[in-house]
Amino acid sequence: MSDLPYDFYTQEVYDHFQNPHHAGVMTDATDIGEVGNIVCGDLMRIYLKIEINPPQEPYIKDISFETYGCAAAIATSSLTTDLALGKTLTEALTITKDQVVTGLTRLPPQKVHCSILAVDALGEAIYNYFVRTNSPISPELEKRHQHIAQQQTILAERYAEWSKNSSDTTAAASETGCETSISSPKITSDHASTTITATDSHTATSSTTPATTRTS
Ligand code: FES
Repeated sequence: MSDLPYDFYTQEVYDHFQNPHHAGVMTDATDIGEVGNIVCGDLMRIYLKIEINPPQEPYIKDISFETYGCAAAIATSSLTTDLALGKTLTEALTITKDQVVTGLTRLPPQKVHCSILAVDALGEAIYNYFVRTNSPISPELEKRHQHIAQQQTILAERYAEWSKNSSDTTAAASETGCETSISSPKITSDHASTTITATDSHTATSSTTPATTRTS
């Protein structure tokens, strides 16, 4: 047995991971934000239903998330959606990763980057709302968007390359009758594949398969 800590997640992380709030695709979303992490390759979508109650500001009437990410990504997404639901867009843009990490008591340092995914996807969805409605966009949000867009481009190129290499390898393996073997390194992590069933309320309906082995 190693001395590695297998209990580094807090109870709050486990609770959100095993019973995520607002998980699933929202079919009637008004705006969607999508981001990827160029370090781990994980992906996140935030779905928003934004409404305006004049004379108030636009606000988040409903929210849900969809992710291919680790346990920390699922837990932080769940909490981020809790924090953002019912907020005006101005309020929602003030949600930070530090707030999310604090809400889960703590995250191991190597998992803090996971907490950025949902916060960034939320910002992107709000950015897309502003673009769609020809609303003014603050320089800070524009800068944030440009940075995310650059990362998305890099990630898309990497996935395209991986996909090409993967299909080349598959074709070679089938020609030789060999079992598929992908030359990329294998990564074993706590990534979870989450099968999500959307409900009207987007309440937790996911079945999770932690500790999968992923080939990238
Ligand atoms: S989101 Fe990629 S490792 Fe957590």
